[in-house]
Amino acid sequence: MINRYTVIGQPIAHSVSPDIHHVFGELSQRRIHYTRTEATPETFASVVHDWKRQGGLGCNVTMPFKQQALEVVDRIKPCAQRAGALNTIFMHKDGSLVGYNTDGSGLLADLRSTLSADPAGKRVLMIGAGGAARGVLGPLMDRQPEALVIVNRTVNKATKLAEQFDVNQTLSAVGLDDLSAQPAFDIIINATSSGLTGDELTLPASLIGTSTLAYDMVYSNQDTPFMAWARANGAPRVVDGFGMLVEQAADAFVIWQGVRPKTRLVYPRLVHLR
Ligand code: ATR
Repeated sequence: MINRYTVIGQPIAHSVSPDIHHVFGELSQRRIHYTRTEATPETFASVVHDWKRQGGLGCNVTMPFKQQALEVVDRIKPCAQRAGALNTIFMHKDGSLVGYNTDGSGLLADLRSTLSADPAGKRVLMIGAGGAARGVLGPLMDRQPEALVIVNRTVNKATKLAEQFDVNQTLSAVGLDDLSAQPAFDIIINATSSGLTGDELTLPASLIGTSTLAYDMVYSNQDTPFMAWARANGAPRVVDGFGMLVEQAADAFVIWQGVRPKTRLVYPRLVHLR
């Protein structure tokens, strides 16, 4: 039996999710056929339902439909509820659509397993307070960092997020102007959608310490402006979001197929994407 999945987004032509899931299929000896599907806000719901009617077993949902997708599914798992968005739909045998979010678990898997950078007990800075930030805050807070600071150009959006996720008073929101008063961070995560160019956003170099990990959630073959800023200011470890992309895909695969691919075996097979 061929197990059919797709990723729905706009634009979608450059998504590497099919490459990742096909390697997962080979390694777990499952026959996987994973495609890309373009939609618009007007067609998104019918695209999802058509996929199910055509025998698709599940789909991933990416920009800009992650929030809209909550309205399309029949059941929302707590991971997606908390994130306010979903990225994975499981098409249940009983005909229902079940929504999950694996972005946060994927980020944590990359930080903990691949990068040995568990946020537990660490000082973490999150740049940005939009959907990408909200999607990962719950799992980050679950690790009980010593402090998690959200900084955003529009500070009241950061404050709202902090109020929502501050379960143990370690989460705070600051404006860009307050950053220079902060001691260095162990982990700095860029969750803004746009590239952060020097012109648009100036971050103080004092945020970077001798062992800081600078992590851009965006997958990019070349340094993003955030990564370039971190490197230029001496961050010893600077990475893009490729690992998060692979790990969130592995967490979707386990929902669909019941096995989690050993991602450390997957990376060598995906070097052509780097
Ligand atoms: P996403 O769902 O990808 O997170 P979003 O909800 O539009 O997208 O949020 C984008 C985030 O990037 C926000 O934190 C935004 O800051 P504002 O809330 O102040 O708009 C941030 N962002 C986008 N462009 C930016 C820029 N040029 N400089 C600084 N922050 C920027």
